Amino acid sequence: MAQVGYSQKVMEHFMDPKNVGIIENPDGYGKVGNPVCGDLMEMFISVKDDIISDIKFRTFGCGSAIATSSMVTEMAKGMNIDEAMKITRNDVANELDGLPPKKMHCSNLAADALKEAIKDYKKKITG
Ligand code: FES
Repeated sequence: MAQVGYSQKVMEHFMDPKNVGIIENPDGYGKVGNPVCGDLMEMFISVKDDIISDIKFRTFGCGSAIATSSMVTEMAKGMNIDEAMKITRNDVANELDGLPPKKMHCSNLAADALKEAIKDYKKKITG
Protein backbone atom coordinates (compact mmCIF):
# COMPACT_ATOMS: atom_id res chain seq x y z
CA MET A 1 0.00 0.00 0.00
CA ALA A 2 1.24 3.49 -0.79
CA GLN A 3 2.24 5.21 2.42
CA VAL A 4 2.56 8.77 1.02
CA GLY A 5 4.95 10.02 3.66
CA TYR A 6 3.41 8.20 6.62
CA SER A 7 5.62 6.22 8.98
CA GLN A 8 5.09 2.53 9.55
CA LYS A 9 3.79 3.32 13.04
CA VAL A 10 1.17 5.74 11.71
CA MET A 11 -0.01 3.08 9.28
CA GLU A 12 -0.20 0.46 12.03
CA HIS A 13 -2.27 2.67 14.33
CA PHE A 14 -4.49 3.73 11.44
CA MET A 15 -5.12 0.17 10.27
CA ASP A 16 -5.52 -1.27 13.76
CA PRO A 17 -6.37 1.58 16.15
CA LYS A 18 -6.33 0.89 19.89
CA ASN A 19 -8.94 1.96 22.42
CA VAL A 20 -11.69 2.88 19.96
CA GLY A 21 -15.14 3.23 21.50
CA ILE A 22 -16.80 4.91 24.43
CA ILE A 23 -16.86 4.49 28.21
CA GLU A 24 -20.31 4.62 29.79
CA ASN A 25 -20.35 7.12 32.69
CA PRO A 26 -16.72 8.20 32.24
CA ASP A 27 -14.89 10.05 35.01
CA GLY A 28 -13.81 12.58 32.41
CA TYR A 29 -15.07 13.47 28.92
CA GLY A 30 -13.56 15.78 26.34
CA LYS A 31 -14.80 16.83 22.92
CA VAL A 32 -12.93 19.08 20.54
CA GLY A 33 -13.28 20.18 16.94
CA ASN A 34 -10.40 20.91 14.62
CA PRO A 35 -10.78 24.45 13.28
CA VAL A 36 -8.57 23.63 10.30
CA CYS A 37 -10.68 20.82 8.86
CA GLY A 38 -13.85 20.69 10.98
CA ASP A 39 -13.24 17.15 12.21
CA LEU A 40 -14.35 16.06 15.68
CA MET A 41 -12.82 14.03 18.50
CA GLU A 42 -14.27 12.64 21.71
CA MET A 43 -12.18 11.21 24.55
CA PHE A 44 -13.43 9.25 27.57
CA ILE A 45 -11.35 8.44 30.67
CA SER A 46 -11.75 6.38 33.82
CA VAL A 47 -9.53 7.46 36.72
CA LYS A 48 -8.48 5.56 39.83
CA ASP A 49 -6.18 7.16 42.43
CA ASP A 50 -5.23 9.87 39.89
CA ILE A 51 -4.16 7.22 37.36
CA ILE A 52 -5.89 6.87 33.99
CA SER A 53 -7.13 3.31 34.32
CA ASP A 54 -9.08 3.21 31.07
CA ILE A 55 -9.36 5.46 28.03
CA LYS A 56 -11.34 5.34 24.80
CA PHE A 57 -11.84 7.64 21.84
CA ARG A 58 -14.30 8.18 19.04
CA THR A 59 -13.63 10.43 16.07
CA PHE A 60 -14.99 11.82 12.85
CA GLY A 61 -11.46 12.54 11.75
CA CYS A 62 -8.96 11.56 9.11
CA GLY A 63 -6.46 8.71 9.20
CA SER A 64 -3.85 10.84 10.97
CA ALA A 65 -6.39 11.81 13.63
CA ILE A 66 -7.20 8.14 14.16
CA ALA A 67 -3.53 7.17 14.38
CA THR A 68 -2.64 10.01 16.77
CA SER A 69 -5.63 9.28 19.02
CA SER A 70 -4.78 5.61 19.11
CA MET A 71 -1.22 6.53 20.09
CA VAL A 72 -2.26 9.12 22.68
CA THR A 73 -4.56 6.62 24.39
CA GLU A 74 -1.74 4.08 24.50
CA MET A 75 0.59 6.69 26.00
CA ALA A 76 -1.92 7.97 28.56
CA LYS A 77 -3.23 4.65 29.83
CA GLY A 78 -1.72 3.95 33.24
CA MET A 79 -0.33 7.48 33.50
CA ASN A 80 -0.89 9.94 36.34
CA ILE A 81 -3.39 12.61 35.23
CA ASP A 82 -0.95 15.47 35.80
CA GLU A 83 1.67 13.72 33.65
CA ALA A 84 -0.91 12.94 30.96
CA MET A 85 -1.92 16.61 30.93
CA LYS A 86 1.61 17.43 29.73
CA ILE A 87 1.42 15.23 26.61
CA THR A 88 1.82 17.55 23.63
CA ARG A 89 0.99 17.07 19.98
CA ASN A 90 4.71 16.92 19.28
CA ASP A 91 5.12 14.09 21.81
CA VAL A 92 2.42 12.17 19.98
CA ALA A 93 3.89 12.85 16.56
CA ASN A 94 7.35 11.84 17.80
CA GLU A 95 6.02 8.56 19.18
CA LEU A 96 4.57 7.90 15.74
CA ASP A 97 7.98 8.62 14.13
CA GLY A 98 6.65 11.86 12.70
CA LEU A 99 3.69 13.07 10.68
CA PRO A 100 3.77 14.86 7.33
CA PRO A 101 3.85 18.63 8.07
CA LYS A 102 0.45 19.12 6.43
CA LYS A 103 -1.01 16.62 8.90
CA MET A 104 0.46 18.03 12.13
CA HIS A 105 -2.81 19.87 12.84
CA CYS A 106 -4.56 16.50 13.07
CA SER A 107 -2.56 15.57 16.15
CA ASN A 108 -4.03 18.59 17.98
CA LEU A 109 -7.34 16.81 18.23
CA ALA A 110 -6.03 13.85 20.20
CA ALA A 111 -3.86 15.83 22.62
CA ASP A 112 -6.51 18.52 23.14
CA ALA A 113 -9.38 16.08 23.67
CA LEU A 114 -7.29 14.25 26.28
CA LYS A 115 -6.63 17.57 28.07
CA GLU A 116 -10.35 18.41 28.00
CA ALA A 117 -11.22 15.00 29.47
CA ILE A 118 -8.71 15.49 32.30
CA LYS A 119 -10.01 19.02 32.97
CA ASP A 120 -13.55 17.63 33.09
CA TYR A 121 -12.44 15.01 35.61
CA LYS A 122 -10.69 17.62 37.78
CA LYS A 123 -13.76 19.85 37.68
CA LYS A 124 -15.89 16.95 38.88
CA ILE A 125 -13.68 16.04 41.83
CA THR A 126 -13.20 19.62 42.97
CA GLY A 127 -16.91 20.37 42.49
FE1 FES B 1 -9.13 16.66 10.01
FE2 FES B 1 -6.89 15.35 10.00
S1 FES B 1 -7.82 16.34 8.32
S2 FES B 1 -8.17 15.76 11.67
